Amino acid sequence: MDKTQTNRQQWGSRLGIIMAVAGSAIGLGNFLRFPAKVAENGGGAFMIPYLVSLLLLGIPLMWIEWTLGRYGGGFGHGTAPGIFHSIWRKNRFIKYFGVIGIFGPLVIFIYYTYIESWTLAYSFFALFGKYHGLMDQAGMKNFLSGYQGLEQNQYFNGLGWAYFFFLITFVINAVVIYHGIKGGIERFCKWAMPALFFCAVILFVRVLTLGTPDPAQPGWNINNGLGFVWNPDFSALKSARVWLEAAGQIFFTLSVGIGVILTYASYLRKGDDVVLSGTTAASTNEFAEVILGGSIILPAAFVFFGPTEIQTIAQSGTFNLGFVTMPLVLNQMPLAALMGFLWFFLLFLAGITSSVSLAQPAVAFLEDEFNLTRKRAVFTFAAAAFVLCHPAIFFLKNGVVDELDFWGGTFCLVLFATVEVILFSWVFGMDKAWAEIHHGADMEVPKIYKFIIKYVTPLFLLTILGAWFYQDWLKVILMENVAPENKIYVLATRLGLLAMFIILAVLVKLAWKRKYE
Ligand code: ALA
Repeated sequence: MDKTQTNRQQWGSRLGIIMAVAGSAIGLGNFLRFPAKVAENGGGAFMIPYLVSLLLLGIPLMWIEWTLGRYGGGFGHGTAPGIFHSIWRKNRFIKYFGVIGIFGPLVIFIYYTYIESWTLAYSFFALFGKYHGLMDQAGMKNFLSGYQGLEQNQYFNGLGWAYFFFLITFVINAVVIYHGIKGGIERFCKWAMPALFFCAVILFVRVLTLGTPDPAQPGWNINNGLGFVWNPDFSALKSARVWLEAAGQIFFTLSVGIGVILTYASYLRKGDDVVLSGTTAASTNEFAEVILGGSIILPAAFVFFGPTEIQTIAQSGTFNLGFVTMPLVLNQMPLAALMGFLWFFLLFLAGITSSVSLAQPAVAFLEDEFNLTRKRAVFTFAAAAFVLCHPAIFFLKNGVVDELDFWGGTFCLVLFATVEVILFSWVFGMDKAWAEIHHGADMEVPKIYKFIIKYVTPLFLLTILGAWFYQDWLKVILMENVAPENKIYVLATRLGLLAMFIILAVLVKLAWKRKYE
């Protein structure tokens, strides 16, 4: 018998949930990952696979997750094992596929929170002028390496500061989650999101009015800077990798295929609209990504460093753009301390409104499936996540974060999205699914999406997975692209991830034993 309790928490208002979902979506992915992907993958040409993926994968999955989450919430389930079970009760194994929807966000949380803590640290460093004297890439890079504990230098002597800011960031996350959906996450996002947009718009306007700072280089102006980002290089479209990168970015940025939207939507009421709310949250994210995220970092770097150096910068890694190039650019502007602070605080707000959403599936699982009180669920989650964050902090240089990002932040997203869309359109059934999406809806989904969700989205996803298995599977398993000295760390990370997955699967088994036997 199902002994599920359904007196779950609820969102306070419609604006609240839209802010929270937009907060989950708008993150470090919008302001750091997106510009780097655009620059690396053919400038404006990247936008073609990006927009195709948005229409054929992102938007449909957004509606699917909102709908499935609200449906599962009605049965007292806020995470994928229970939600999948509610859809396909006869299948004993489907709940274990749902484990990915708790595992994925937990894996992202354990490195995302650490990177988020750098943005808090740099907000203080900017405000107190700790890096203001640094005027070239080499110096700023040393500063970052020192902070990350990759080397001891004149700026930092070990990981002390990084650990200190990690602790603060971790505690803030825990406090927000502790206060619950309405009193914590919703209340926090309601002020954090406007504050985030405020910082972003100031930086956006500042960058667009940069003009030509170096009179000796009249071509290094903002028009050409925007051109650098947006002029298409169509030859990039022939590469399968560019399509994979675009699809991956859409998942990451919209927070779909992770499991967090399912959990957030499970706190909706049965008659609440999901179509318009989902579309609004996704559109807000796209505005923040394409308009704001695409117009700050790269055009600003172009204006100060010119077209040749920016290629090297763009390829030198996501973190270098945000933590090396951007502070250097801002250092050359009037009110450098304030501008630097706005940049890093913007990243911090974007990061924390996402990381709380990454934590919530694990907390909801403990509350819903083990009937733990919120207090106990948050303490249990915090204790486990705290321990799990440590490899990312201490073994960053050994490739641990990249490994976590690949499995948690890329592979699991595509896999989980594939399971979701097949369950939704083929097991639940498209007619029932269509009726469920439109229950209480304030807007109708265009009819063509009935066809897209049933055939195009699953086929697109299966093609991506198939291409990955065909091209990369063996290389990844054999760690062909891993430096020999890092292989042992990467292997340890993989074994750790496997152990985490097995533990979560055992917990699901135990929960079901308690509830249904
Ligand atoms: N959606 C979040 C981001 O873009 C995870 O960072």
